[in-house]
Amino acid sequence: MDSTRKKAYCESHPNIALIKYWGKSDEEKNTPINGSLSVTLDFGKTKTEVAFSDNVQTEFFLNGAPQPITRRIQAAIDFFSNLSIDSSLKTNSSFTINSTNDFPTAAGFASSAAGASALVGALAGLVGDTEDPISFWNERNINISRIARQVSGSGCRSIYGGFVEWQPGNDETSISNQIFNENFWDDFVTISIQLHTKPKKVPSTQGMQHTVKTCPWALWRAQEIVPQRIIDAKNYISKKDFNSLAEIIMRESNELHAGCAASFPPFFYLKDESRDVIDAIHQLNKSKGKNVAAYSFDAGPNPFIFTEKNNLLEVKQILKTLDLDVENMTEAKPASGIITKIFD
Ligand code: PMV
Repeated sequence: MDSTRKKAYCESHPNIALIKYWGKSDEEKNTPINGSLSVTLDFGKTKTEVAFSDNVQTEFFLNGAPQPITRRIQAAIDFFSNLSIDSSLKTNSSFTINSTNDFPTAAGFASSAAGASALVGALAGLVGDTEDPISFWNERNINISRIARQVSGSGCRSIYGGFVEWQPGNDETSISNQIFNENFWDDFVTISIQLHTKPKKVPSTQGMQHTVKTCPWALWRAQEIVPQRIIDAKNYISKKDFNSLAEIIMRESNELHAGCAASFPPFFYLKDESRDVIDAIHQLNKSKGKNVAAYSFDAGPNPFIFTEKNNLLEVKQILKTLDLDVENMTEAKPASGIITKIFD
């Protein structure tokens, strides 16, 4: 069989950071100013199919519509079309890329993380002619999470399932690793609440770089606070100590948004309704005498609430009493990393 006629398919899930990435040390390579820690979640999937193409240029379709090839997508294409490590690998090719998102309508996700890892998983599978691109490329000293990181920083964490750490470092060393797989903490549940709001005002790259440049304590946080938190969070996850992990999750979210407010000029992602959720979760935790729920907000006003299965009903009841203007509410559990298939 002519390997150039094969196709590769890869599916990937989004991830939400428990310890946040909010700043790049190298804007071109997407290396972060601090490590981060996330959970990959089964809210939805990005499915990407890649084939070699005879056209001069790579074509990229998202949900059937042609898309521009951004500098970041080009980085992954260039990497897999200019390899010289193994003469048996077909290179110097362009590709046809078809990607679809089956995220629930307006679930509140930037699909970029799942999109980046599905793209890299499919390209890595096709060029290596392998259904296990992580091991195949590792054996050739290439960590594919590094390539996903170049496409979308947080995307490197979606290569793996369950709880995932992204290491800071340079272009070679800043990679992600799985800490615990998706079956480790079956009771860990996430609720995504999509509020009725307009698209975000400040894209994440712009927001994080403005914070790094103008928030006086952004680098101090990255260097002095986050490293110990990652050690502690890994320890709490290993013991399934939700109470302690929840405090870290909430502090991380609060500090990201405090950093935006301490930038100059300041900028804000949270809305009054976001703050109502924050207050309600703290009240619930206080009434229980321990943290039974935690909130986290990315570059937007929409809350992600983490809890354990035995407290899910109560957390949902509390959220209902807030009478939020909700467009969509979805539940998720930890999901797997990329799944790659090769077919003719
Ligand atoms: O990878 P980006 O550019 O989508 O940035 C992600 C930033 C946050 O979602 C706010 C935090 C994180 O660690 O995912």
